[in-house]
Amino acid sequence: MSTRIVSTGSYIPEVKVSNADLESIMDTNDEWIRKRTGIESRRYEDISTARMATEAAKDACSTVDVETLDCIVVATYTPDSFIPTVANQVKANLGITRPIPSFDLNAACSGFIYAYQVAHAYIVSGIYKKVLVIGVDFNSRYMNFEDRSTSILFGDGAGALVLETSDKGTIDTIIGGEDDINESITMKNSTDYSNPFVERDTKKESYFEMKGSDVFKYAVRIMDKTIKDLLVKNNLETNDIDYVISHQANQRILDSGARSLKIDTKRMLSNVSKYGNTSSASVPILLDEANKKGLLQSGMKVILVAFGGGLTYGAVLLEWI
Ligand code: COA
Repeated sequence: MSTRIVSTGSYIPEVKVSNADLESIMDTNDEWIRKRTGIESRRYEDISTARMATEAAKDACSTVDVETLDCIVVATYTPDSFIPTVANQVKANLGITRPIPSFDLNAACSGFIYAYQVAHAYIVSGIYKKVLVIGVDFNSRYMNFEDRSTSILFGDGAGALVLETSDKGTIDTIIGGEDDINESITMKNSTDYSNPFVERDTKKESYFEMKGSDVFKYAVRIMDKTIKDLLVKNNLETNDIDYVISHQANQRILDSGARSLKIDTKRMLSNVSKYGNTSSASVPILLDEANKKGLLQSGMKVILVAFGGGLTYGAVLLEWI
């Protein structure tokens, strides 16, 4: 018993912000951003995380009867509210009235891989047959536009897929984490309001903060290790893999991964130039793009891989059906 991806979908916000647009509000320049990151533009959402997730879900469900879904799992660290969750709102927006479970999980930029594994585990254990998995993040809401080293990197978006029971498809999944001893990626909670009975720090800023070069080194090391671990565990070699669909953080991380794994850069897919880092959404957006372009043919082996705050990482090895 395994799972297969029945359909994919995505939602890209309309507001496009180029490097030149950023130049007009901070001390940066197009050449620096392109050279250090490969990013040319990013998209910013104007409404909500739930709106983006719903649009991606509708796209993924254009060929699926939503009444056949058994569960909705949303990966995000930028929900509009803690309650209701983004997944609760997607369920309502899709018009599903059956009492199916819907919940969010947060594993920073690795969230989509975690959500995929949760959905896969539910299905292979026989609990559910069909699960909608969404990755979405509204990063621009948490960017400090006075911090040029982080705000240039991120964008907003959503991607989704429907996973269902099948004889083959998903071959293996790995998720894991290491301690972030240097606090290299943080986004603090800003809702620590005053309480008449306890004294506490009521600092309300909750910007995304990052030590870029620590994260860069982690990303390069962990992508290489996770993919190699997955290949060894499944008696496969890099040459057996048709495409790697990685988290899109920085083109230099993707190039470095391709070099160390000895994968042709054409097989390390990328769209970071158009959307920047969309966190939980980057893997499913790229997967949907590859699927809609017709790149993924039956029998091809594909690796989905991601890394991020926490520190987290994860990968999925699958055969495209
Ligand atoms: N525009 C122009 N100059 C900038 C800049 C910007 N937007 N941001 C930083 N700089 C400057 C720095 O101030 C520094 O100047 P100095 O040498 O005068 O001090 C110089 O550029 C080099 O900065 P540094 O931070 O060493 O650059 P870098 O090569 O490490 O690139 C990142 C910075 C953020 C692009 C890179 O570290 C990175 O991509 N890290 C990983 C981030 C990531 O993937 N995060 C998400 C993981 S899920």
